Amino acid sequence: MKRRIESEMIHGGAKDGRSYEGSLTVPIFQTSTFSFSSAEQGERRFAAEEEGFIYSRLGNPTVRALEERMAVLEEGEKGLAFSSGMAAVSAVLTSLTKAGDHILCSNGLYGCTFGLLQWLNEKYQITHSFSSMESETSLRESLAERTPACIFIETPVNPTMKVLNLKMVAKVARELGIPVIVDNTFCSPYLQQPLSLGCDVVVHSATKYISGHGDVVAGLVIGKEDYMTLLAKREQKDVGGVLSPFDAWLLLRGVKTLHVRMEGHCQSAKWLADKLKNHPKVENIYYPGSRDEEEKNIVEQQMRLAGGVLSFDIKGTKAHAQKMMNELKMIKIAVSLGDAETLIQHPATMTHAVIPAERRQQMGITDTMLRLSVGLEAVEDIWDDLKQALEWEDLS
Ligand SMILES: Cc1ncc(COP(=O)(O)O)c(C=O)c1O
Repeated sequence: MKRRIESEMIHGGAKDGRSYEGSLTVPIFQTSTFSFSSAEQGERRFAAEEEGFIYSRLGNPTVRALEERMAVLEEGEKGLAFSSGMAAVSAVLTSLTKAGDHILCSNGLYGCTFGLLQWLNEKYQITHSFSSMESETSLRESLAERTPACIFIETPVNPTMKVLNLKMVAKVARELGIPVIVDNTFCSPYLQQPLSLGCDVVVHSATKYISGHGDVVAGLVIGKEDYMTLLAKREQKDVGGVLSPFDAWLLLRGVKTLHVRMEGHCQSAKWLADKLKNHPKVENIYYPGSRDEEEKNIVEQQMRLAGGVLSFDIKGTKAHAQKMMNELKMIKIAVSLGDAETLIQHPATMTHAVIPAERRQQMGITDTMLRLSVGLEAVEDIWDDLKQALEWEDLS
């Protein structure tokens, strides 16, 4: 019987029905290695003739439980856990490209993903370009310029919250046999399941909503069995950016409440987006679906809710944006997102500072833009804090 995603957050995975002596939660298998009952058993395990754990970089029961649960939640065949979101992103991008290849990206990416692309270009001449992917025409035009080895997308795009039509991108890419990778960090599988929309690989910074408590740095990749098995053998095992059993345990704990937390984050973010839109000191608001009817329709089709992150431009200059941040009392000035605490950051000088100013502007990242990850505090308290921080007469 197919269970709903809320139940799978709590029970999903554990394919072989492991019971762990009746322990309700998956224990932390804090071990580097696993002993064999005989030399022959060791030989069989290394030859993949017998299932079983060998060494924690090659697999660990706590980590495996997380990987299996995430595969269920993303409707994929197999999941793999990495030591950070960037370890996951770099594993996927290096696995799908070789020297001289090209990557087509959404017009807006997390700063370190942008940094990785630059580095791949310098070292291996793997080039990249950006496309608005606003319409099938614009996507086809970008693809005609140079056939990429893969397409890498964030949606909603960080931090401009622009939404891309995943079904459309997947359809066009499939015609041409190009794999589509989606960074689903901002949505989590509760809001959006790119694999079920036809995309090929999902990556996560699990540091964010999957954890939900700001206490772990982790990454995840979910996709088809064949691809993921190769990724496990090469990028996970041989490059070695694996997740620790304790961090996997924290994520297993966090993901159980993902649906409840996401409902709270999204409800408050929507409420605050409406309030901020009408504030005299706010110039623009960026929230998924708020651009136009077309974007609203895409949000309705591919996302359960519009998300827990919003950005806005302060009227004035960068100094005004920084002043507002400094006036906040409860909201924390911090990068990251998806935590119980509301976090605010200034993309131009923080998460996206590595992107050259001109490219940042093309991506729509202004110097007056602030990004707010809406937490789980009472929404009225978040609003009171934002309001009082906007009460200045002028800079002093
Ligand atoms: C959209 C997105 N992808 C990837 C990452 C990288 O994740 P991590 O910090 O876990 O390495 C981040 C981090 O902020 C992110 O926002």
